Amino acid sequence: MNFEEFEELKTHFSGEAADLIPVLQKIQGAQGYLSPESIRRVSRWLRISENEIYGVATFFAQFRFQKPGRHVIKVCLGTACHVRGGEQILDVLKRRLNIEPGAVTADGLYQLERVACLGCCALAPVVSIDGKIYGQTSVLKIQELLDGGLHHDQP
Ligand code: FES
Repeated sequence: MNFEEFEELKTHFSGEAADLIPVLQKIQGAQGYLSPESIRRVSRWLRISENEIYGVATFFAQFRFQKPGRHVIKVCLGTACHVRGGEQILDVLKRRLNIEPGAVTADGLYQLERVACLGCCALAPVVSIDGKIYGQTSVLKIQELLDGGLHHDQP
């Protein structure tokens, strides 16, 4: 979010401390995370210290402080997916990408997430990549998809 966009955002709020959470939600909605620069701007504008903003924001699981990866891979570990091998799929992805869930690879390409349920349990195990659902998947299919550079064909 650049300076002009931030100035525009400010016009929708009164500039009270109570605006903090909705302002952070707007920023995250616009840029996918809360950058250090955006936290600094909010701090100056709402006259709340950066430490306090981080303290409040980290309390809510919805806020991210790291730039999202170009590809977001969500592995479902809800009950149905868990019993059908979701954990093994997550393990393979962790090893392959060399990151833990919640993190982004150093090249910024992949972001790995574990989720509780993607809402299509009948297709377990389920993985979502950039919002696209891959059902009845397997370690092998996921590896093939990664080998292919994630061009989003059904694995
Ligand atoms: S448990 Fe995985 S989609 Fe519901």
